[in-house]
Amino acid sequence: MSKMEVKTSLLDNMIGVGDMVLLEPLSEDSFIENLKKRFDHNEIYTYIGSVVISMNPYRSLPIYTPDKVEEYRNRNFYELSPHIYALADEAYRSLRDQDKDQCILITGESGAGKTEASKLVMSYVAAVCGKGQEVNKVKEQLLQSNPVLEAFGNAKTVRNDNSSRFGKYMDIEFDFKGDPLGGVISNYLLEKSRVVKQPRGERNFHIFYQLLSGASEDTLRKLKLERDFSKYNYLSLDSAAVNGLDDSANFRTVRNAMQIVGFMEDEVQSVLELVAAVLKLGNIEFKPESRVNGLDESRVKDKNDLKEMCELLGIEQGVLERAFSFRTVEAKQEKVSTTLNVAQAYYARDALAKNLYSRLFSWLVNRINESIKAQTKTRKKVMGVLDIYGFEIFEDNSFEQFIINYCNEKLQQIFIELTLREEQEEYIREGIEWTHIEYFNNAVICDLIENNTNGILAMLDEECLRPGTVTDDTFLDKLNTVCAEHPHFESRLSKSSKFLNDHSLPHCCFRIQHYAGKVLYRVEGFMDKNNDLLYRDLSQAMWKANHSLMKVLFPEGNPSKVNLKRPPTAGFQFRASVGTLMRNLQTKNPNYIRCIKPNDKKAAHIFTEALVCHQVRYLGLMENVRVRRAGYAFRQPYEPCLERYKMLCKQTWPHWRGPARDGVEVLLKDLQIPVEEYSYGRSKIFIRNPRTLFTLEEVRKQRLQDLATLIQKIYRGWKCRTHFLLMKKSQVTVAAWYRRYAQQKRYQQVKSSAIVVQSFIRGWRARKILRELKYQKRCKEAVTTIAAFWHGTQARRELRRLKEEARRKHAVAVIWAYWLGLKVRREYRKFFRANAGRKIYEFTMQRIMQKYFLDLKKTMPSMSPIDKSWPARPYLFLEDTHEELRRIFHLWRCKKYRSQFTEQKKAIFEEKLEASEMFKDRKALYPSSVSQPFKGDYLEISKNPKYQKLGSLVEEKIILADTVNKVNRANGKGAPRLFLLTKNSLILADQKSGQIKSNVPLDDIGSVSVSSQSDGFFALRLKEGSAAAAKGDFLLSSERLIEIVTKLHRTAASTAGRSQIRVDITDEFLVQFKQDKVCVKFVPGGPRNGNSATCKRKNNRLLEVSVPSP
Ligand SMILES: Nc1ncnc2c1ncn2[C@@H]1O[C@H](COP(=O)(O)OP(=O)(O)O)[C@@H](O)[C@H]1O
Ligand SMILES: [Mg+2]
Repeated sequence: MSKMEVKTSLLDNMIGVGDMVLLEPLSEDSFIENLKKRFDHNEIYTYIGSVVISMNPYRSLPIYTPDKVEEYRNRNFYELSPHIYALADEAYRSLRDQDKDQCILITGESGAGKTEASKLVMSYVAAVCGKGQEVNKVKEQLLQSNPVLEAFGNAKTVRNDNSSRFGKYMDIEFDFKGDPLGGVISNYLLEKSRVVKQPRGERNFHIFYQLLSGASEDTLRKLKLERDFSKYNYLSLDSAAVNGLDDSANFRTVRNAMQIVGFMEDEVQSVLELVAAVLKLGNIEFKPESRVNGLDESRVKDKNDLKEMCELLGIEQGVLERAFSFRTVEAKQEKVSTTLNVAQAYYARDALAKNLYSRLFSWLVNRINESIKAQTKTRKKVMGVLDIYGFEIFEDNSFEQFIINYCNEKLQQIFIELTLREEQEEYIREGIEWTHIEYFNNAVICDLIENNTNGILAMLDEECLRPGTVTDDTFLDKLNTVCAEHPHFESRLSKSSKFLNDHSLPHCCFRIQHYAGKVLYRVEGFMDKNNDLLYRDLSQAMWKANHSLMKVLFPEGNPSKVNLKRPPTAGFQFRASVGTLMRNLQTKNPNYIRCIKPNDKKAAHIFTEALVCHQVRYLGLMENVRVRRAGYAFRQPYEPCLERYKMLCKQTWPHWRGPARDGVEVLLKDLQIPVEEYSYGRSKIFIRNPRTLFTLEEVRKQRLQDLATLIQKIYRGWKCRTHFLLMKKSQVTVAAWYRRYAQQKRYQQVKSSAIVVQSFIRGWRARKILRELKYQKRCKEAVTTIAAFWHGTQARRELRRLKEEARRKHAVAVIWAYWLGLKVRREYRKFFRANAGRKIYEFTMQRIMQKYFLDLKKTMPSMSPIDKSWPARPYLFLEDTHEELRRIFHLWRCKKYRSQFTEQKKAIFEEKLEASEMFKDRKALYPSSVSQPFKGDYLEISKNPKYQKLGSLVEEKIILADTVNKVNRANGKGAPRLFLLTKNSLILADQKSGQIKSNVPLDDIGSVSVSSQSDGFFALRLKEGSAAAAKGDFLLSSERLIEIVTKLHRTAASTAGRSQIRVDITDEFLVQFKQDKVCVKFVPGGPRNGNSATCKRKNNRLLEVSVPSP
């Protein structure tokens, strides 16, 4: 353990006082008060020196964890707060390190927690001792023996749901390293009467219930058992189910534990068969059968159970049946067979059941021992754990309680002896003077029971062996005489007659003042139980059984080994084994665990002071403390003492160099503790009065506070200084960084300003240079310009001069020429006539004209009237002549052209001309008609057979025949009609039949109206009052409108005396339809239904013709 780890001491954080020796003031009240206080704070363990007092908490506390085991491992006993682990560790370490055999003695009332304590000790030792495969197996076997033994040996009693009904002492054997090698279990007196009868509110042994509720159907069938508890006479039913106890789960645990411990499968089976057999046995019932001699003989009532039991154990049914009816008494080579009455048969049955079960239990213990016994023969160290049934006081106490209490009495004895001896030995060891202390020694009570000559057990044996009629009452009588004077024996009829009037003491009872209280024993059954008689017939029947265990369990049944001597009585056996146990314990170093139960209700949190007080009293705990304190209340080795208190003295604080003892001496002297308050042992300091220790503790506490303050002060100082230094360092760092930053900033500013200034200067300089350069450049340019101008001026001057010179020369030449001409003319005038000039002119003109006409003849255009070409004029002055010649030529060639025409062709042209005069530039349809020849007869009526009839009807020559559309006056739609024009009339006929629809004389036609647009509509307007006018005007349309209207007009004009037909060109005109005058209006419209115009009657007065725009 590191030095730094904080050690908690027994004296630290104590609830109440951890060690009763230090209790101040010491009184029974303060003792109980201390226990209660600790119990209320879940501190169930308290020390009296090295003895551990354990209060049963009746609930699981979190103080048995692996962490706790580690905490207590290898620590000094007083180092930590009291715990059973501290005791176990102390015992284990002194076994391992000091080679001392140990025993752990656990005492206390039934239900006080002894068995639990023993298991805790064992589990602790298992946890801290060596590890390894082999070792672990041994450990596991040792630990797993507990569930097996508890199943067979524990039962629910009124005091404890899991009360051990046998005494158990287990030796665990270790090798020199402290590794477990194995163990030996001794068992003491199983309370076998429980097998056949249980007091009210209690149960039989756990195994019966576990088997019935936990075994599989298959197993039960094999064992011929039924699950129902109520089927079995031996099982008490009122408390069959116990709260918090799961029998079936426990059965599995037991089976598993048996397997781990090393039971073979067939062994387990045999054990269960025996358990089943006991149950079956309980169900066998008897009935009386009268015999000739007048006595009743018992007979088995229902043989089924008997049969099944015999089958289970392999017994011949007849043999057993006989054994329940007869008894063979052998005396001096004589065999006498007597009959058994019903009561005796029942007695025999129960005796058999008890023996069967208790022998099975002993066999189990032996079998376990076989498994767990140490394999090696090396020298072993031993740790014994004693868990014996606790002191019992019931309402009705019998032989079992007597025996149990005797055992406890013996344990108390050994406790007293060993504690005192140990105390004494320590003083001697340490070289300290020993002073004697008074305490109650229970040796007298032990003597009352076990004295060889007049002890109660001896009396009982004597009475059992005495020939003649012996009963329980004769035994009581005997006690009344022999023990009358004993201070701890009380009986109503005792010789001393002290208790004659004590009505709390019935006649059939005696009372013993045990160390733990007075117990009233009923003598009934003492003799039987002590005798523990099993009829030989039964044991022989058992021995004969064909079952693996029976021969081992009933060796006395072997007929070849008939022993006439009575077997030792139960009391005798027990006394002997207790004697052996005591001797065994005395050779070992004892460790005590004294268990106390806080209440009678098996409930947590309840502390019944009276009950605890009673236990404290009879356990002699107060005496224990007193003995411990008589000499010196407190002792401690020098090293831990110095370690704990060294801060109280300057010389020893903080380090004492030198022997610890000297340190303690210096310390105590310095503290001025009176010399008589302590003495120096060899290795320990002994402090007489707890008060001294508490003073020390008080001063230590004070000093610890001072030290804490000091540490705090130094720590605070250190912390502040460190903090300050850190701050200072940080400040410097920050300042440095800041300065650096500021300087950097400033430098950058200066640098940038410098750059600005620099750039300005550079700029200024550069501009200056630039100006200079520009100036120079301008100068150069100026020079060049000036030079250029100068050169230009020079050149121009030169040019002007040269031009002037040339002009002068020219002028000179002209003048010279004129002058020469003048001179020539003056000279030659006399040689020419006066009009020679005119003659030259005329001649020249003649020549020119000649050439003009000859050229014209050569380049004359063609004779076609439409040829527009004409040669260009050669001279401007011939302009007019040239044009005139062109006109004349054209007229001439037209005349030439016309002169070629026939009469017919001439008429056609005339017609075309007339059409042109009428429509040119007035109707948009006109241009398209120019190129079409006016054929006139398009239908060829005379040739067409279809129109033969029509042709015959029209006598006159047909000028024009064509198909037109007659516009329906009602809706504007067109209907085709044949249109025939003759010299005198106009005929409209049906197109298909050729039948004449109307025949209108040309004289009746007043005018024709057409539009200016490209449509072919035309209205024939009749003269008012004419014959044809009655039908109204005709509105027709034709592609060949221009031809029709021209022909109509010409025909009308050609006849002399006939009025002309007027042609009106207008886009809106009125038409007479019968009575109505309808306005026909032409509107431009989109090219919708092809290119033809459409006519639509808009209303009564309007007929709209929409003409698609071209
Ligand atoms: N240390 C403990 N922690 C929790 N419960 C305990 C403890 N000791 C005893 N008990 C409870 O008390 C009951 C009785 O204990 P047990 O050891 O069987 O008594 P004894 O053997 O003294 O008759 C146990 O079944 C258990 O419920
Ligand atoms: Mg127990």
